[in-house]
Amino acid sequence: MCGIVGYVGPDQAVPVIVEGLTQLEYRGYDSAGLGVLTARGPKIVRAVGRVRDLEATLPKRLSSTIGIGHTRWATHGPATQANAHPHQSYDGRILLVHNGIIDNAAQLRARLVAEGIEFASDTDTEALAHLIARSQASTLEEQVLDALSQVSGTFAIAVVDSTRADRIVVARQGSPLVLGVGDHEMFVASDPAAIVRHTSSVVHLDDGECAVVTADSFRTFTAESSDTGKQPQTVDAEAIAAEIGEHASFMHKEMFEQPESLRRMLSGRLDHRFATVRLDGLGLDPRDLRSFKRVKAIGCGSAYYIGQLGASLIEDLARIPADAEPASEFRYRNPIIEPDTLYVAVSQSGETADTLFAVQEIQRKGGHVVGLVNVVGSSIARACGGGIYLHAGPEVSVASTKVLTHMGVGFAMLAVLLGRVRDLSHSDGARILAGLERIPDQVREILDREAEIGAVADVVADAKSVFFIGRVRGYPVAREGAQKLKEISYLHAEAYPSSELKHGPLALIAAEMPTVAIVPDDELVDRNIGALHEVSARQGPLVVVTHEGVEIDVDVARIDVPKSERELDPLLMTVPLQLLAHQVATRLGRDIDRPRNLAKSVTVE
Ligand code: F6R
Repeated sequence: MCGIVGYVGPDQAVPVIVEGLTQLEYRGYDSAGLGVLTARGPKIVRAVGRVRDLEATLPKRLSSTIGIGHTRWATHGPATQANAHPHQSYDGRILLVHNGIIDNAAQLRARLVAEGIEFASDTDTEALAHLIARSQASTLEEQVLDALSQVSGTFAIAVVDSTRADRIVVARQGSPLVLGVGDHEMFVASDPAAIVRHTSSVVHLDDGECAVVTADSFRTFTAESSDTGKQPQTVDAEAIAAEIGEHASFMHKEMFEQPESLRRMLSGRLDHRFATVRLDGLGLDPRDLRSFKRVKAIGCGSAYYIGQLGASLIEDLARIPADAEPASEFRYRNPIIEPDTLYVAVSQSGETADTLFAVQEIQRKGGHVVGLVNVVGSSIARACGGGIYLHAGPEVSVASTKVLTHMGVGFAMLAVLLGRVRDLSHSDGARILAGLERIPDQVREILDREAEIGAVADVVADAKSVFFIGRVRGYPVAREGAQKLKEISYLHAEAYPSSELKHGPLALIAAEMPTVAIVPDDELVDRNIGALHEVSARQGPLVVVTHEGVEIDVDVARIDVPKSERELDPLLMTVPLQLLAHQVATRLGRDIDRPRNLAKSVTVE
């Protein structure tokens, strides 16, 4: 996590950096800082809190045409001013911002302290600033490389040197970094979103790559100093820049974008003639598709829950065994990689470190992994080579909503594709395609019921703890509903398979513990209504997400969603739970887009 931005050119650097940091706040928001080189030497300003707190601290006049900035998500040391970036070398010459974790920071610190260097912060980053300053190499680029050769871990860094005030040196290993090429001005950033208001000409650095930028030029090179000759690519600036508009939060805006963004995602991908889908980006022909005996989805947090929902879609439609696993666990357990398994890496940002490492582990062991990724050109998308882009547009709110629905649709399309080269009939394929086409309007219908769901939110907002239950394909829906609620309302929420209630957690059910139950109108409806009775008999208040026509003979607050195909129902049932979480968090006065302790893009392990 953490966001980096830098500028060198003819304009004032401070406003460009502050604006860029505001765009990057989703990456971390416990403290922020910037460092510029002025006629009177380097100047650092740092503040605990948001970028707006940094802005409030800035001196009225801070004239400089080169500088770097940072928004932090604390890993080493609490969120204090001293731990905020940039960090400065012992001689004051080097200013450095860093995203990532230096694994051998403790050893480096001990060595530097033994040499008499005093540390001003608890961070792992500061050691790197000192290492660069004490390097004997002749240019800043070489000094950075020299310092990095002593470091293990993940990083994206940007460095300026007050004795070479014409350049910024950057390096990437495991954390994203791009250059923005302007007209006699140059930008660096963790994400193109920070710079697209200035230029749409962007260079994506790869792991192990470094660059030196001046106002008029840039050069990319490896850790061994060989040129890599990277050329800029044009990115879609409009698609990347996100404005909140009239919405109360980005989360609200993003939920309400779903009908339109889903239509865009489906467009051109449904093949009605053969009742299948076109997913050319996967790079798999029918023979390849048939060769897979199993599918495994890997992702983190909500992306993992949607992976679980996707796995059940694949089992239902393609009748091949499928499951999902948190990428964060997968990568640490020396997984057995099977050559006939199709691995699917699921990620909004495409930068989640755990998912990226899992992809690399699969590839290292010869497995085939494709991406289900939103951000075009992101690290996971590029590592996978093939995949399905989600085309959801930018998602700024830390709590993911619209991209999750897109992931679900992506899995449904993959399930049809895998099914149609196996035993999924033409008519069943056509049935699912028709269902997919109805989804944007059905999502719109659910969003139109926001006020109704608001009334139900009162049942939940007064509770301290909330249960979410679902059975089989309803269980991932329950898990995602609980996740959304806890993330933005800070209420304790826990998801259980409905069938497991009686094996323990029923002991917790009481009048002050509401349960949100997922009860689709499918072959399991009677069993699910049975679970409602179990809760009701213990005076547990119930909120039920269900379909019109499902008869429930206990007292519940009901949220009816439009009926889709049995296999696609779970996907639609996640949408009212987004609205529910948003309504509860609004009632509790939470900071919806920036929930405490979280960050949008988790680029640390
Ligand atoms: C939940 C949420 C997180 C992410 C997870 C993976 O609302 O946003 O749980 O889903 O951190 O992030 P991506 O999808 O960027 O890999």
